[in-house]
Order: sequence, then C-alpha cells, then structure tokens
Amino acid sequence: MKIQYTKVARCNNTPVVDYYFRAMIELTDKGHNHQSVSFSYDQQAIVAEHKGRIVGVLLYDIQEWGNSLLVVLGYVSKGYRKQGIYSELWKRAVAIAKAAGLGKIQGGTHHTNKAMQKVMAKQGRVKTMVLYEYAVPKKGKGESHGKK
Ligand SMILES: CC(C)(COP(=O)(O)OP(=O)(O)OC[C@H]1O[C@@H](n2cnc3c(N)ncnc32)[C@H](O)[C@@H]1OP(=O)(O)O)[C@@H](O)C(=O)NCCC(=O)NCCS
Repeated sequence: MKIQYTKVARCNNTPVVDYYFRAMIELTDKGHNHQSVSFSYDQQAIVAEHKGRIVGVLLYDIQEWGNSLLVVLGYVSKGYRKQGIYSELWKRAVAIAKAAGLGKIQGGTHHTNKAMQKVMAKQGRVKTMVLYEYAVPKKGKGESHGKK
C-alpha cells in the first residue's frame, strides 16, 4: 500500500481540521477523551495519505519556551492500523524535533487508553506526569445559587 507522508505547516483551512474532529468523535465514543478539544488552527501536522485521503495524522505544536514538541493528537484511521503508519509519523516528528534543536517530545493520552500507552512505551516514551481531576459537588437543595 503506497502511503504518502506530508508536512502541513499550518492546519488552518486544510482537511486536517475535519480529520481531527472525526478522530475526537471516536475517542469520545470509547471514553478516551478528556471532554476537551485542544485543536488550534496554527498547529502543524504530519499527514499520512492513501489515494488522496488522510488516513493518519500526528498533530503538533512547537513550544520553544518549553524546549518541546507537543503532540496534540496521534491518530490512524480504522482499517489502516498496525501497518506501521504511526511509527512513520513518529519517526518524522522525532526528525523535526531534532532539526529544531528541541530537547523533548511530550504528549498525553487518557488513562483508559491502554493501547496508546503500549504504543508510547514501545517508542521509548516515559510517563512524567499524571493529571488529577476533582468533581465539583453539584449545587444542593437549599442553596441560594446567588439568587435572592
Ligand atoms: C494508537 C494508534 C495511533 C497506533 O497507530 P498504528 O499505525 O496502528 O501503529 P503502528 O502500526 O505504527 O504500531 C506501532 C507499534 O505499536 C504496536 N501497536 C499498535 N497498536 C497497538 C495496540 N492496539 N496495542 C498494542 N500495541 C500496539 C505495534 O505492534 C507496533 O509495535 P512494534 O514497533 O513493536 O512493531 C492507532 O491505533 C489509533 O489511531 N488508535 C485510535 C486513536 C488513539 O487512541 N489515539 C491516541 C490518542 S492520544
């Protein structure tokens, strides 16, 4: 299968926008989304295409102040997985970070996304942070809610 890899310097007005949101739908359906969207139009991407259609993406931000390339999303379409596409996207991200003189590549995943965690470990990425969340109690009966 001939996969074409391209670098997108700015995702604004490109098919990456649509692809990102479709990927987020799958992650949300699987409970792997943190109820947040971290897309920004000036993010960059490495895109994998088959017959002119996107089949994988590594969306990223260069954070010079943090000396880091931040992976916003790594995603490969169903039917194209386990064929080395993400590995190729990752290899290219490492080359970009190296050429830019950055010290590290960062990126997170949902704590339930065990498959992605296995892939990350295979790539030699190590866990450095855990995100904690506190569920704010709902407003109870008898509270004024600021109303008189
Ligand atoms: C996770 C994902 C990006 C991997 O893409 P891929 O193109 O299938 O990955 P590759 O084929 O390059 O595989 C890379 C390595 O991980 C392994 N791997 C791939 N999928 C795996 C899985 N589900 N479980 C365990 N290991 C897996 C491969 O065997 C390979 O290992 P190797 O280098 O020893 O051969 C893809 O399955 C995907 O998009 N999943 C849904 C979206 C998602 O969860 N994204 C992450 C959001 S943070």
